[in-house]
Amino acid sequence: MRKPIIAGNWKMHKTIGEALELANGLKRELCDIEVVDIVVCPGFTLLEEVGEVILESNIKLGAQNAHWEIQGAFTGEVSVQQLKDLEVKYAIIGHSERRQFFGETNEAVNKRVKAVLKAGLIPIMCVGENLAERESNKIFKVIEEHVRCGLKEIEKEEVYKVVIAYEPVWAIGTGKTATPQQAQEVHNFIRSQLSKLYDDNTAQTVRIQYGGSVKPDNIVDLMSEKDIDGALVGGASLDVKSFAAIVKGSIFKKG
Ligand code: 13P
Repeated sequence: MRKPIIAGNWKMHKTIGEALELANGLKRELCDIEVVDIVVCPGFTLLEEVGEVILESNIKLGAQNAHWEIQGAFTGEVSVQQLKDLEVKYAIIGHSERRQFFGETNEAVNKRVKAVLKAGLIPIMCVGENLAERESNKIFKVIEEHVRCGLKEIEKEEVYKVVIAYEPVWAIGTGKTATPQQAQEVHNFIRSQLSKLYDDNTAQTVRIQYGGSVKPDNIVDLMSEKDIDGALVGGASLDVKSFAAIVKGSIFKKG
């Protein structure tokens, strides 16, 4: 049984005051939920203070990136050690916005994922096709490449800790959710790739989240699909009510 995992990606939103309000609200609303792993990923400047609010609660702290070197001349990057200092437990790696706007390559994603694992943190590795790739039938080629390259040289003994987030780029921030069936098809494909790269048992252990316009009113349908183990939520994670409703909704499955 894979434990559901719902993560909020706050992206480049919130000042410290706003972030504290959100974190306090979530702690209040979600304090008794143990059957779902709950993660919030605020921007770097917010990690320390949000971390203090959720310390020792059931809500865990995640970052939105992490560099592969322990330290060095890498202006604008953040190291896993710096994140560990702040009790960060997860790091989103290879988000499509990083791939699209900041030239993130599969090779860099792989280095980051390896560094995050080595530091004992959990990577949330994002994969997903854009609209042109979907329309030209390249979905599976793109996903296969993202998964294989992102996990290169990661052993079976480590890979089960990785969370994979399938985020079709055309569904991010657009209000266009992939239908549960469209998402399931790709999640199932990702699992088949994990079987090929590792084995069936490993493939059944790795958690795969869906991301892209997840809302309180579509979470139950998404979670009812066999291979969808949670969500990586953008816009709807910025509000206490909607994120709490998504976390609570993720417990239910139809049928
Ligand atoms: P939205 O939920 O705003 O579509 O964003 C999804 C996402 O990119 C989460 O990482």
